[in-house]
Amino acid sequence: MSGSAPVRHWVVIPAAGSGSRMGAEVPKQYLTLGGETVLAHTLRRFVGHSAITGMVVVLAPGDPYWSAIDPSLRAAVETVDGGAERADSVRCGMAALTRRAADHDWVLVHDAARPCLRRDDLDRLLTTLADDPVGGILAVPTGDTLKRAAAGIITATVPRTDLWHAQTPQMFRFDVLRTALADAGEVTDEAMAVERVGHAVRLVEGHADNLKITRPEDLALAAWYLARAEKEARCVSVTV
Ligand code: CTP
Ligand code: MG
Repeated sequence: MSGSAPVRHWVVIPAAGSGSRMGAEVPKQYLTLGGETVLAHTLRRFVGHSAITGMVVVLAPGDPYWSAIDPSLRAAVETVDGGAERADSVRCGMAALTRRAADHDWVLVHDAARPCLRRDDLDRLLTTLADDPVGGILAVPTGDTLKRAAAGIITATVPRTDLWHAQTPQMFRFDVLRTALADAGEVTDEAMAVERVGHAVRLVEGHADNLKITRPEDLALAAWYLARAEKEARCVSVTV
């Protein structure tokens, strides 16, 4: 721990994927939603937030689309090249923070493809975990009935009472995440790496509208959520 030094928050945005399941002409983080790219919307969730000290955006090497992002957003972040898998890209983002972040600082990893993160969910994650030694993630309880299947035939109905959909941001102490990722091999999210080394990872309940844009049908839903959030923000600014 860094004595009485204030604990800071850093953000890593993995944005180096190709969006193969989306099947669009450009990587999905550069598709346009309501006049701005998905990535620009995602960056606006964090840029200017008073609790955030610095941000790293992880890009595909030679990314030709980044230069078209709003200059004020580009100026607010550092960029680094990513790797073949998401976990590799997150490691690249962490490496960029090594000299700046203290062990006890927080790092929040948030997918570029989740542009609809609510400000109050982000803030609840920060405050709920503030005194935690490890960290945790935003997640939502599973609403659907889940089936296990083999060769297209159901083999079991899985009790859903204790099942959650993992989201991002995933927020961990910098040294906890760096050590866990170094040992983890291929993992699908940061929590999995931290779980593997035996730490207790907390769940903080968020909202289903923090969806990850993955397939073409997700775009319309994300556009609707963003339009609703903008409308609500306008109403609030008119009524206060
Ligand atoms: N990502 C990354 N580096 C990779 C792969 C993914 O930074 N090598 C990022 C993506 O840009 C995205 C986030 O990790 O913001 C979540 O990954 P995913 O939804 O799987 O995105 P893609 O890998 O781009 O999509 P797909 O798996 O369909 O190809
Ligand atoms: Mg992927």
